[in-house]
Amino acid sequence: MQYRSLSVFIWRTLKNLKNNMPLFTWIGKDKVVGHDKEVPFRLLRKNKSLSLGEHSENLIVEGDNLEALKALLPFYYGKVKCIYIDPPYNTGNEKWVYNDRVNSGHIREWLGKVVGPEGEDLTRHDKWLCMMYPRLKLLHQLLRDDGVIFISIDDNEHCNLKMIMDDIFGSENFVANIVWENKEGGGKSDSNFFRIKHEYILVYAKEIKNSRIFGLPVEDEDRYKLADKYVSTRGKYQLIKLDSASLGYVKSLDYPIKAPDGKLIYPNKDSKKISRWRWGKEKLIWGTKNDFVVIKQDKNNEWAVYTKQYLNCDNEGNLIDRLIQPIGVISKYSTTQSNRLLKDIFGEAVFNYSKPIELIEYLIELTCDKNSLILDSFAGSGTTAHAVMELNKEDGGDRKFILVEMEKKIAREITQERVRRVAKKLGKGDFEYAELGVPLFKADGNINEKVSFEEMASYVYFTETLSHIDKRKIKGAFIGEHSGTEYYLLFKQKDDNILNRTALKGMKKDGEEKVVYADKCLLSEEILNDYNITFKQIPYQVRVY
Ligand SMILES: C[S@@+](CC[C@H](N)C(=O)[O-])C[C@H]1O[C@@H](n2cnc3c(N)ncnc32)[C@H](O)[C@@H]1O
Repeated sequence: MQYRSLSVFIWRTLKNLKNNMPLFTWIGKDKVVGHDKEVPFRLLRKNKSLSLGEHSENLIVEGDNLEALKALLPFYYGKVKCIYIDPPYNTGNEKWVYNDRVNSGHIREWLGKVVGPEGEDLTRHDKWLCMMYPRLKLLHQLLRDDGVIFISIDDNEHCNLKMIMDDIFGSENFVANIVWENKEGGGKSDSNFFRIKHEYILVYAKEIKNSRIFGLPVEDEDRYKLADKYVSTRGKYQLIKLDSASLGYVKSLDYPIKAPDGKLIYPNKDSKKISRWRWGKEKLIWGTKNDFVVIKQDKNNEWAVYTKQYLNCDNEGNLIDRLIQPIGVISKYSTTQSNRLLKDIFGEAVFNYSKPIELIEYLIELTCDKNSLILDSFAGSGTTAHAVMELNKEDGGDRKFILVEMEKKIAREITQERVRRVAKKLGKGDFEYAELGVPLFKADGNINEKVSFEEMASYVYFTETLSHIDKRKIKGAFIGEHSGTEYYLLFKQKDDNILNRTALKGMKKDGEEKVVYADKCLLSEEILNDYNITFKQIPYQVRVY
C-alpha cells in the first residue's frame, strides 16, 4: 500500500471508529478512496448542433460521469439541490440496451488504470464498488448543504451501496430506505422463495440538519369525514378527545367542564394513567365560541369533550393545507407505465427499464422548490429531464437539470432526442449538449494550449475559493475577490504571462491580499510585499483539484 493510500486508509478507519461504524472494505478500495482527486480535470465543449436553444442553463453531458462530474465541479460545486441516480444494478443481465455489467469496455479499461493489475481479479461486487465510490464522492461535493440524493438500487448491491454511502455521506445523514413496488400485479411467479416486486430508493442528505422532505397534502384522508357549516373553508373534520393521559399530568389542565345537562365532566379518571385536558380554560372558551368544541355522550352515555380537527384549518383558526409526511413505501408508478411512455415518444421500445416519470416527479417534489437544480448522472433515456420539464410546465417553475450519459448512442439518439421531443411537445424547454473536451493539464504537466482564459480563470478561482466565478466581474487580469483576497490571472499570451511592473497597473499598493497566477515573476520580494502579492507559478502551483 502506498504512503498516501495508507494514510487515507488510517484516516477512514479512525473516522469509522469515531462514528461507531464497522470498517467496510473490498479489493481495490485503497486505490479508489482518493481517486476523485486524481481524475483529470477536463473541459466541457458545447456541441451546437445537438443543443436546443442558446445559453440554456439545462445541460446534457455525453461522457463517463466520473470525468463529467469533475468537469462540472468549478461551476456547480455545492449548487445541486437534488440528485437522482439510477446506476447499473450489477445484475449480470446482458440483454439490456445499455450494458448493465460494470465490466463494460470503458469501465474495465478505467478499472485497469485505477486499480492496476489487481483489477483483473476483482469480483463483480468489488468492481461495482470501485466504480461507484469516486463517483459518489464527486456527487457529494456537488450537492448543496440542504441537498438530498436519491439512488435507485435493488438487492444485488443494496447492502454494499448503503455501506459506502455511510462512508461518504456519513451514517448520520441517512434519511430513508424507500421501498418502491416497481411491478404491477403479483410479481415474478417463477421464484421458489418470494415473489419480489420491489426495489429500493436509498435517500441521504448532505447535512441532515439542513434538509427537509416536504409533507404531502392530505387528500383522500378518510379520517376527515364529518362536515359542518364551515366545510367550504375549513374542509371536513374529525373529532379528537380533549382528554389525554399520554401528555403527562398538569394540574391546571385538570378542571371540570360543564355538560349541556349541567353535569361536570372531568378528564378521564378511569384511565390507569391520570388524564388532563389538552386545552387550558381560555382556549376552551375560544374553541367553544368558534365551533371547535363538541360535547356529546359516548356509547356508554357518558359525557365526553372533543375538539374538531379540520382538514384545512389549524387549532388556532388559521386556514392551512394540512400536510402529512410521506410513507416510506411507494406502491404506485410501474415500469410498465414508463415503457409505454417511451413507446409513445419514439414509436417503438428504444430503451427498457427506464423509470416512470411520475416517480421522479414525486421525488423531486419531496425536496425541491420551483428553482432547484436537479442532477442525474446515469441519465439513460432522460426521464429526470422529462420530469423537470413537466413540473415546470405544470406550475410555471424554473427548475434546471443536468444529465450525464456515457454511451454515445444512447446520449445522442435517446437522451437528447427525448428531451428535444418533449420540449417541442410542451412548447417550452431548452438545453446545451456538451461533450468532454481536452484535459486542463497535458501529460507533461503543462496547461493545455486549447484552454481559454475564461476556462482557466473559472478553474483557478474555484480551486482557490471553492466557489464559482462571477464572469461579469472579470476585468483584465482581475478574475474576482473572495474573503478579502483578490485573484489575478495572467494567461492571455503565451510567453507573455509575466508578473512585472506593467502587470501591476490597476493593482493597489498595500490594501487587500492578492494572489497572482502567471508563468513568471520579475518583481522583487520587496515589491511583492508592498503590493501584498502572493505569486503562484503556472502550471506548477495551479492546484490539481
Ligand atoms: C438504469 S439506466 C438509467 C435509466 C434512467 N433512469 C431512465 O429512466 O431512463 C443507467 C444508465 O447509466 C448509463 N451509465 C452507466 N455507467 C455510466 C457512467 N459511468 N457514466 C455515465 N453514464 C453511465 C448507462 O449507459 C445507462 O444508460
